[in-house]
Amino acid sequence: MKYFLDTANVDEIRRLNALGIVDGVTTNPTIISREGRDFETVIKEICTIVNGPVSAEVTGLTREEMIEEARNISKWADNVIIKIPMTEEGLAAVNVLSKENIKTNVTLIFTVSQGLSAIKAGATYISPFIGRLEDIGTDAYALIEDLRHIIDFYGYNAEIIAASIRGLPHVEGVAKRGAHIATIPDTVFAKLFSHPLTDQGIATFMKDWAAFKK
Ligand code: G3P
Repeated sequence: MKYFLDTANVDEIRRLNALGIVDGVTTNPTIISREGRDFETVIKEICTIVNGPVSAEVTGLTREEMIEEARNISKWADNVIIKIPMTEEGLAAVNVLSKENIKTNVTLIFTVSQGLSAIKAGATYISPFIGRLEDIGTDAYALIEDLRHIIDFYGYNAEIIAASIRGLPHVEGVAKRGAHIATIPDTVFAKLFSHPLTDQGIATFMKDWAAFKK
């Protein structure tokens, strides 16, 4: 499973990208707004830091607005992906954009039918929201399993980006159920490779080594 970073903080992206385990980045208007910087500048900068796909979301609500924004954003970098909300207008936009070879990530997916509809419209990626589904008491892992089964059964090329990841159990849960990608906030990302017993073990080794060297 690929790890994407769900942030627009370029310092964190640079820091974590150096580990060689960041396969891409996703953003949304909320995430971009936290940085207090110009949208285009931030996306272009992120696209130069990571080699993998970088999702940038449109803010228009009609198909015409989304298509126009997408065509513009797609010129910013070779690895930029256009994030489109899962609406009727969004599907119509994805249908047009896929025919122009503009890659899309359809976001805010909460049901199998939404996921399948996005795939059929031509989405490159679909983003089911794990945490928000659990917030309303729905089995988010069943959605991941079902979408993966459908993609494999019919031979679709779309990939599942498990989004709204809130902690390590979500990352491990979606990995076990066949998500192609988990997009992970930077605060959770640091937990992927750390454990208190690792730190404790290193401290013990250092203490014993210092005593031995005396
Ligand atoms: O990837 C989507 C994410 O940014 C939303 O997360 O925790 O607000 O549901 P959350």
